[in-house]
Amino acid sequence: MKPTNKSTQDKYEIKEHQSIDLLKELHILTRDGKMNQDSRRKLKQVYHLVQFIEPIITELFATKESVQLIDFGSGKSYLGFILYDLIGKLQSKPLEIIGIELRKDLVDYCQTLALKLQFNNMAFHLLSTDEAIQSTDLPPTVDIVTALHACNTATDDAIRFALAKHVEHLVLVPCCQAEVASFLRKKKSIEGEDSYLAQIWRHPIHSREFGSHITNVLRTLQLESHGYQVTVTELVGWEHSMKNELIIASKGLNSKQQNKAREDLNTLLNKLQLHELVTRFN
Ligand SMILES: C[S@@+](CC[C@H](N)C(=O)[O-])C[C@H]1O[C@@H](n2cnc3c(N)ncnc32)[C@H](O)[C@@H]1O
Repeated sequence: MKPTNKSTQDKYEIKEHQSIDLLKELHILTRDGKMNQDSRRKLKQVYHLVQFIEPIITELFATKESVQLIDFGSGKSYLGFILYDLIGKLQSKPLEIIGIELRKDLVDYCQTLALKLQFNNMAFHLLSTDEAIQSTDLPPTVDIVTALHACNTATDDAIRFALAKHVEHLVLVPCCQAEVASFLRKKKSIEGEDSYLAQIWRHPIHSREFGSHITNVLRTLQLESHGYQVTVTELVGWEHSMKNELIIASKGLNSKQQNKAREDLNTLLNKLQLHELVTRFN
């Protein structure tokens, strides 16, 4: 079956100008143009995210000659490639999409694919967070940072990078988070009048889920304390609810609001006796 015909487009939600070669290279479509259940789900998730990112890009292009987006923990770069294909390609001004990834095989794969498809404003770099902050290979100003399912503390690395680069917008879909849960597990009890709070994570499943939840709460407060207006919402169709949170942050809070967020962040860390994490969320 040819993937470009109308019924296939409707069924798989393939857009008119979308590159079938790209979808095949990403193994979203098989060689004969079919799509399995997993791929359809992945594509829907990425489309949904693209819908949130598109208005940010449009707004930036209203005042800028080019837009720079960095995708942290880009992996196979489903998001980056599809964003470029659906939005970047159609712009009269350059939308630069740059993936940062710790796995060389994935960086090489994406770099080769971008060349093959002639997606000229895409690049991929093998860089740690500290290297990425310092790197002269990256644009001096970055407008948007995205991180889709950057596992455990990689979302925090994306935030650290975005704060260091004074990025205007962040779009984050965090993955599982084990770091805070591991601190909670060590802290079986809390001293003093707040001792009842330890009930929240007494059972391992609760420490995992509460750890994941409180991590995103702390990330939100951290971003607010740096002046970002934050929206937290649900992304559709994930199998695991812990991966279903979408955090969108854009510069816009005043200093009073920032100070309040900083105060709440510190109080929360103190109440939960998570002092070791102060530097992570500062
Ligand atoms: C679960 S995958 C998600 C990949 C991609 N964003 C997606 O949704 O298909 C997470 C990726 O983040 C990368 N990663 C983890 N920590 C990172 C860091 N600090 N900097 C850059 N990449 C990182 C991993 O190598 C992995 O490829």
